[in-house]
Amino acid sequence: MKNRKHIAIFASGAGSNARRIVEYFQHSDAVKVQLVVSNKPQASVLDIARDFGVDTLVIHRSSFYDSEALLERLQADQIDLIVLAGFLWLIPPYLIQAFPRRIVNIHPALLPRYGGKGMYGMHVHEAVKAAGETETGITIHYVNEQYDEGQTIFQAACPVLPEDTPQDIARRVQELEHLYFPTVLAQLL
Ligand code: GAR
Repeated sequence: MKNRKHIAIFASGAGSNARRIVEYFQHSDAVKVQLVVSNKPQASVLDIARDFGVDTLVIHRSSFYDSEALLERLQADQIDLIVLAGFLWLIPPYLIQAFPRRIVNIHPALLPRYGGKGMYGMHVHEAVKAAGETETGITIHYVNEQYDEGQTIFQAACPVLPEDTPQDIARRVQELEHLYFPTVLAQLL
C-alpha cells in the first residue's frame, strides 16, 4: 500500500509551475509528484522533471484521444490527482470519467472572463490589456469536458496598471501562480 498521494502533472511548456509543485512536495510525507506528462518531446518541463528524478512520459495526440494507454499508466502509478500546468489539449471524456473531480487546471485570468479555446498564455494577457482591465489574476478549477468551464476552486487577483505591457501582466500573474498553486493542491489532497 502506498502511503503518499500521487500527483501526475501534465504540461506542455516552460514548466515553471511544474517546478514549483515538484519543489514544494519534494520532501513531503503526504504527497509525491509521481509522473510528468507532456505532449511536446522538447518541452523544458521534461528536463525539470528529470532533474528532480520524476518519471516522464511523452504522449501523442492519436493515442491520447483514441486509446486508453495513458489511463492504464496513470492507474498503474496509482495517481490520485492530475494537475494541468500549462497543458493545452482538451482532456478527453474517458479521463474525466476515470478521475471525477480529480483533474485540476490553472488558468492565468479570472474565469469566466478570458477563458475558452485559444485563450492561453500570452493570448490571455494581450486580451486583458486590450480590454483595458484594471484587474486580472488566476483561477484554479476542476476540469470538465469544456475548456476552462469546470468548477472554480480558488481565485486570486492582482492589479493591471495603465502602463503595463502584456509581459508585465504575465509576470505578475505568474507570481500569483507560483505562490498559490502548490498550497491549493496541498489543501485539496
Ligand atoms: C501558466 O501561466 C498557466 O496559467 C497557463 O500556461 C502557463 C504555463 O506556464 N495555462 C493556460 O493558459 C491554460 N489555458 P509554465 O509552463 O511556466 O508553468
